[in-house]
Amino acid sequence: MTDEKKSAGAGRAERRRKPRRKKLRVLVLMHEDLVPPEDVSELSESEFHRIKTESDVLDALRKLGHEARPLGVRDAVLPIRHAVEEWEPDIVFNLLDEFQGEAIYDQHVVAFLELLRVPYTGNNPRGLVLARDKALSKKVAMYHRITVPRFFTVRRNRRVRRPKRMEFPLIVKSLVEEASMGISKASIVRDEDALATRVEFMHERIGTDAIVEEFIPGREIYVGVLGNDRLIALPPRELIVDGLEPGQDLIATESLKHNVEYQKKHGVRIRGARKLPDGVAASLERVSKRIYRMLSLEGYARIDYRLADDGKLYFLEANPNPELANYEELAHAAAKAGISYENLIQRILSLGLRR
Ligand SMILES: Nc1ncnc2c1ncn2[C@@H]1O[C@H](COP(=O)(O)OP(=O)(O)O)[C@@H](O)[C@H]1O
Ligand SMILES: [Mg+2]
Repeated sequence: MTDEKKSAGAGRAERRRKPRRKKLRVLVLMHEDLVPPEDVSELSESEFHRIKTESDVLDALRKLGHEARPLGVRDAVLPIRHAVEEWEPDIVFNLLDEFQGEAIYDQHVVAFLELLRVPYTGNNPRGLVLARDKALSKKVAMYHRITVPRFFTVRRNRRVRRPKRMEFPLIVKSLVEEASMGISKASIVRDEDALATRVEFMHERIGTDAIVEEFIPGREIYVGVLGNDRLIALPPRELIVDGLEPGQDLIATESLKHNVEYQKKHGVRIRGARKLPDGVAASLERVSKRIYRMLSLEGYARIDYRLADDGKLYFLEANPNPELANYEELAHAAAKAGISYENLIQRILSLGLRR
């Protein structure tokens, strides 16, 4: 080998070891109320908590050397189009989980980005539609022989007609809302009256169709997945509540998920799932990737399960574009797999560009 060739080879190896990242222009789409101020140190703890995801992602993008520009949106698409046409970002980082106050409209925003032909991070419209509907996603999973709790739906303006095979206790949820909206202890129902009352609550107060599922007692496990074609399943995480009274059912209620005081008081945390029964860790990895594919998910998502006392695993729901704050499970799970927060954000960007 000539010296010239040798040094070219060494140069290649060097580049491989130290990948030079292209500096990207990243337009970060977020809710208008969640655009972080220039100086976040002025904010109170709870004010900062509210905008933490937006702030963390912007921070990470800048540390990665990218040019990141936040764009707050609420109910108009034109500002998105103008920003894309005027600033010409390489990619849009999508942090929206609602539009015009509707959780299910985020899919339309992503569809709009596709029409603008600008790359974006996270899930495509098809994945958002399939995963958002808790009945539709279970129907797809059942076709692929994945175990799901038995369920039925009650559309708005319809009365409950419980199929005979559906025995109490049952749990009543919103068909399409997320983040445990409308989930409290009263969501678990043990008779016809309580069932009817809770379904009415879903229809009237939450304003959505209801899904009624067989209640699965047991452990609660989350698995993050990253990728478009080649997938990585992150180590499984488990919801732990120290202060659970004997006989009390473990469920992720609204206050358990979002109320910091409640979390402190009851010892709520999510940590690595320990002492899983034989074979469960392997099936979590395999099944999570299968679910991700069958629901057309891309970029990043988190799959939620119940692990019943008899060791049977039930698929509860898939969360496309789950919370990306630095302290949230996806970031923690990634860290356990050796992926730093910045690395996670960079991967999500790269997956969006490669689509
Ligand atoms: N079939 C079920 N059996 C037992 N617990 C459930 C069931 N469905 C939901 N839960 C509890 O309610 C929580 C919220 O339900 P989930 O379907 O994940 O909706 P969300 O989109 O609001 O997170 C779950 O994390 C779990 O604790
Ligand atoms: Mg959930």
